[in-house]
Amino acid sequence: MNQVKIALLFTISLLTLTAHAQTVSVTVDANAAKPISPDLFGIFFEDLSYAADGGLYAELVQNRSFEYQATEQPSWGPLTGWEFVQRGGGAGDLWVDSSCPICANNPHCALIRIRKAGAGVGLSNAGFDGIPVKAGEKYNFSVFARMLNVGDGRNSTPVGKLPLSVRLETKQGAVLGEASVEASSPSVWKKLTATITASQTDPDARLVVLAKASGLIALDEISLFPQATFKGRKNGLRADLAQAIADLHPKFMRFPGGCLVHGDGINNIYRWKDTIGPVEQRKGQANIWRYHQSVGLGFYEYFQFCEDIGAMPLPVVAAGVSCQNSTRTYGTGQQCISMADMPAYIQDVLDLIEWANGPTNSSWGAKRAAAGHPAPFGLKYLGVGNEDKQTDGFRERFQMIYEAIKAKHPEITVVGTVGPAPSGEDFDLGWKFADKLHVPVVDEHYYESPQWFWNNLHRYDNYDRAKSKVYVGEYAARDARSRSTLRAAIAEAAYLTSLERNGDVVQFASDAPLLCNERHANWRPDLICFNNTGVFPTISYYVQQLSSLNSGDTYLRTTVGDAGKFAASSVRDSKTGDLILKLVNGADKAKPLHIELNGITTLPGSATKTVLTGANADVVNPDGGPPAAKPEVSPIEIGRAFDYEAPPNSLTVIRMKSK
Ligand code: AHR
Repeated sequence: MNQVKIALLFTISLLTLTAHAQTVSVTVDANAAKPISPDLFGIFFEDLSYAADGGLYAELVQNRSFEYQATEQPSWGPLTGWEFVQRGGGAGDLWVDSSCPICANNPHCALIRIRKAGAGVGLSNAGFDGIPVKAGEKYNFSVFARMLNVGDGRNSTPVGKLPLSVRLETKQGAVLGEASVEASSPSVWKKLTATITASQTDPDARLVVLAKASGLIALDEISLFPQATFKGRKNGLRADLAQAIADLHPKFMRFPGGCLVHGDGINNIYRWKDTIGPVEQRKGQANIWRYHQSVGLGFYEYFQFCEDIGAMPLPVVAAGVSCQNSTRTYGTGQQCISMADMPAYIQDVLDLIEWANGPTNSSWGAKRAAAGHPAPFGLKYLGVGNEDKQTDGFRERFQMIYEAIKAKHPEITVVGTVGPAPSGEDFDLGWKFADKLHVPVVDEHYYESPQWFWNNLHRYDNYDRAKSKVYVGEYAARDARSRSTLRAAIAEAAYLTSLERNGDVVQFASDAPLLCNERHANWRPDLICFNNTGVFPTISYYVQQLSSLNSGDTYLRTTVGDAGKFAASSVRDSKTGDLILKLVNGADKAKPLHIELNGITTLPGSATKTVLTGANADVVNPDGGPPAAKPEVSPIEIGRAFDYEAPPNSLTVIRMKSK
């Protein structure tokens, strides 16, 4: 061989070597196992981006109680969302009244004087960006009506009957379904109900209520629900959205926030007692995201939903202080409930526990039973505070609440808070305070770049196991322009392998935010986007789903050779006996792996692999169109040792039966 040939061969083998990525070894060792939290993967629901009203809560009428206010949005008022209609020669007047409310929590109603009925005088509501109806589906209409008089308005008497026609109409006024109800004397609030069946599908229908005789009538709490709510619950949840959440198989659900809990000033703190009981008696209010929350999806509906989807409730109450960003400040707006009011506030917190778990003969347990749930809800955890600024005011109030819960309900585990970021002053002070009080669990939050998640895979490896456990209550990888890319989802998946590895100290984790109505986004990225007719899971949604469906209660030591942007974890699920291996490749190139399973005897032919990947790291799941990335399941041949090539930008979950 001459020198030229030798040089050529050398170059070719060098090129071949560099073209083929190095095989990475992944070793799972069943002899080095430790118990981990079986409840690691859950969800966090907050009413932002119209997640509740106009979202998960199935109410189709917007501003049903005439309680919108200019403090929520400058152009809003009690008649926002409503249009006064006078049909076919009808004539009358509409105004808002607060002299005869259904109850003090619901002060406004609409008063309509029908001077001449014509083809009808009344109100039309276009819902939240249109009322979506489906041909053949039934809708439950209800209204609180109080007939003030009947007649022509000049010579009228408050006796008799006033018929109301209730219609679903197209935007142009074509009738899609109709029913009638009748208001009648005596002049007291009465709930009238009817069922309407839609004759056609229309994503943009209207609800129209027309008085068909002259008179004066007060209307309030005008409501329309699809009969087909999730599990058919009354005052229920939108079936497709609730199902998408149920399909995540969350182990727990945190609710109702987020910043919404501690609110925009102490008068805006979320008060759970305002959210239970008959909906017309609940106290809606502005939410911190600057729109109205009807609290129709309140604590009862939340606990019921948890039960329906098999998730543990993890409610959060404010720590006696408001959001530090209250009144459009940044970090300086924390307000504290006065010491004089703290005993009552603490009692509210204790009452929540009694409401959830108390016997039916306790005063709050009786209210739960009266609402339709005599059995206790089985509350075990209670969050106190959200990302609060660590001030003396906060510390004093948190301690009072914490000690009252410990004294009266030692069976409840309190989850504390350590500020809004993964490091910094509030984080450090928060941990110091939690250490001092021995708070059992603390809630850490972080919204960071995908690279941050890769850089922090060892964050919990050295956490002191003698201190508080961790709830990663809010996290998301935020890619450029806050897009929900495959890159971000894969970074989250890699991070979740590190949470599994540290599942002895990290007890819970929930990606955030959960829901986003595409037309009212307050925050990006999100797990599930939706509009009135469609539900669009992001790629991160599938990471959560795969993690939850493939969680375990024992971590098996998983060692990875020198691999660059690559992470792996393995767990065993004692319920099924299955062994689950998660492999996350964050590189733009495929990664050849040599996997060894030490101390594990697998059952031949039992393994499947589920792969989540897409064309490149930048892809996002579009609204409406086919997803750019979603999990694909197929069988895989495995043995004590086997090879597998992890696709570029991918999460692979290998699940196998083992002895
Ligand atoms: O998830 C959105 C917001 O992010 C939450 O309300 C708050 O807790 C966090 O800062």
